[in-house]
Formats: sequence, structure tokens, C-alpha cells
Amino acid sequence: MFQTPKLWLWIAVLSCHLIHRVASRTQPHVIMIMIDDQGYNERSSRNPEFRTPVMDRLESQSVRLTRMYMQPSCSMSRAAWMTGRYPHTMGIEQPFQGYDNRASNWPLRGKKSTVFEGGTLVPAFMYSRVLFPDAPRDYNGLLHVTDLPVTIINLANNSTTPVVIPNVDGKNQWLAIKQNGSSKRDKMVYQMWLDVGAVRVGQFKLVYHKRGPCSGWQNPLSGVNTTLPENVDDCKGYMLFDLNNDPYEINDLSKDPQYTQQMSIVMNYFNKEKARRIPAQISGMDPNMPGAGADWTPGWCDAANSA
Ligand SMILES: *[C@@H]1O[C@H](CO)[C@@H](O)[C@H](O)[C@H]1NC(C)=O
Ligand SMILES: *[C@@H]1O[C@H](CO)[C@@H](O)[C@H](O)[C@H]1NC(C)=O
Ligand SMILES: *[C@@H]1O[C@H](CO)[C@@H](O)[C@H](O)[C@H]1NC(C)=O
Ligand SMILES: *[C@@H]1O[C@H](CO)[C@@H](O)[C@H](O)[C@H]1NC(C)=O
Repeated sequence: MFQTPKLWLWIAVLSCHLIHRVASRTQPHVIMIMIDDQGYNERSSRNPEFRTPVMDRLESQSVRLTRMYMQPSCSMSRAAWMTGRYPHTMGIEQPFQGYDNRASNWPLRGKKSTVFEGGTLVPAFMYSRVLFPDAPRDYNGLLHVTDLPVTIINLANNSTTPVVIPNVDGKNQWLAIKQNGSSKRDKMVYQMWLDVGAVRVGQFKLVYHKRGPCSGWQNPLSGVNTTLPENVDDCKGYMLFDLNNDPYEINDLSKDPQYTQQMSIVMNYFNKEKARRIPAQISGMDPNMPGAGADWTPGWCDAANSA
């Protein structure tokens, strides 16, 4: 079945394992791989302490998606990937207990399960000798996991007439990636829980924390000296970051009068998306479910849970 995979979409992410294949006898196979719990720095191209030769070789012949965002947790990434919709519009409210994942996302702020860049921005690339004769190159447009199903369906149809899929949050980014054009999105939701949420519009990102503390900057690469704290005690309320000028989310601009207008633009979008939030549909925990009493999971993240 896998003998001539002409097209691979290899996405190395902080979320769960998933191999998906869309295939027919005449069209190329599409293989999508998500890697769970692999920190931003856990590859040899960024950190000599790691050896990832196969991934590195593929990446060196790929279109590297430098602004690819997943959800902060594996179940939500999977839900978003399978539906093309933001999890907060589907009643998925995963109760979680702050995974103590020591993966290094340095210098990005935050770890897995947080809405900071370290929990959501992932290394990703698309490999295909057939479709990307101009690789290697970078694609720097903004991409979100909900874009993947819509994009892959369009890629698979290989037509200049877009396949329109109703009722999704994902955008068709196929031609943008293929032709190095502008992204079809300028805004996105990182996550919209009751107590924690984040959105961005253009380069400005709004983070909401009902109460502190929140993540700081963890696990610097060896040899790096830093005074940035691992955790920040008081994160109560809204924070505003300019990701173009401050990609590591160090300077909160929310109280700076120069940014009142940007603050109100992201706040409007935040509130609009918050209004779409559907509360969790899970009313009680079935005592027979795997992981009941600890963490509710669909059971497909076993490797992550036993790690
Ligand atoms: C896509 O379509 C073009 C013609 O429009 C064709 O040349 C190309 O081989 C097709 N690619 C694949 C992977 O089917
Ligand atoms: C795929 O592209 C063809 C044109 O090449 C179009 O006729 C067809 O409707 C498309 N498929 C879908 C599902 O839209
Ligand atoms: C892709 O587009 C960006 C600007 O949007 C440009 O800086 C970059 O050089 C382009 N890459 C290629 C390979 O043309
Ligand atoms: C880090 O700090 C230590 C001790 O203060 C110093 O010896 C070392 O040279 C510093 N390393 C760098 C990369 O600045």
C-alpha cells in the first residue's frame, strides 16, 4: 500500500501521533505525521544533543512551514485536524493537569498545554518531489492546524478550481504554499478555554489568563545564560504581545497607551470568538473509561500518557 508515496506531508509537532493517508491508485499518497511531545529544539538542526537524521534529510528537501500553529494539546489538535474547526466551537473542553513536559521550546515562551508560542508554534514541513520541484524553501505565511484538511483536500484534487468546504474555520492554503503567496488568514484562535484563551490578529496577540501564575521561559539550550524566569507569578487578566518585534512574548503591551487601538482590535476578535464557544459536552466521567479519575482521553494518546 505504501510502496510509492510520491507525496509526504511530514509535520513534526508537540501534539499526538497521527498517520493519515488519502490515496487512490492514480493520485499520489498523502501521508501526514504528527509527533507528540517533541520540543521545538529536539532535532539535530537546532540542538546537537539530538539526532534526527531522517527528519533532517526530509526537511532539507522540503517546503518548511515556519509559522505553523497547532492546538496546545494532542486531543484538540486531532479534533481540529479532523474537522477543520476550532475546538472551542465543538464543545471540546479537555480537562488537563499541566503536563510536566520538559521538552525544550527555548527561546519560545511556554510549554505544551499553554497558549504561548512554545505550546503552539511547531516545526513543520511538506515534502514532495512532484509538487515542490522548487524545494527547499521556506513558506512564512500564517498557517493553523484547521487549514490542513482543507489544504490537503485541495492538494489532492490538484485543480485550480478550489474545493469549497462549508462550515470550517480552516482556509485553503494550497496555492499560497505552492506559489509562495500570502496566507489566506491574518488571524487565528490559539485556544478559548474558560480560564485561558489567546487569539492573534496580524502581528498582535492577546493572551487571557483568569488567574496566575503562567509559563515563562523553560529549558534554555545548554550554554545559554538567561535571566528570564521559568514561571511568571501574576498573569491575571489580558496581555498583549507584538510577535513581529517580540516573538518570545517578553513585553506585555496591554497597559501601554500607544497600543490602545491594537488592543481594541484583538479584543474585539477575542470576544467574537468567545461568543462562539460551546461549553464541554461531557457531563460525567464513565468510571470504566481508560484514564478515568485522572485525565479524560480518547485513548489514542497512550504513548504520551505512559511517557
Ligand atoms: C496536476 O495537474 C497538472 C495539470 O494541471 C499535471 O501536470 C500534474 O501532473 C498533476 N499532478 C499530480 C500530482 O497529479
Ligand atoms: C476537483 O477538480 C475538478 C476539476 O479538475 C472538479 O470538477 C471537481 O469538482 C473537484 N472536486 C471537488 C470535490 O470539488
Ligand atoms: C517567498 O515570499 C517571501 C515574501 O513573502 C520572500 O521573502 C521570499 O523570498 C519568497 N521565497 C521564494 C523562494 O521566492
Ligand atoms: C554564562 O555565565 C557563566 C557564569 O556566570 C559564564 O562563565 C559563562 O561564560 C556564561 N556563558 C555565556 C555563553 O555567556
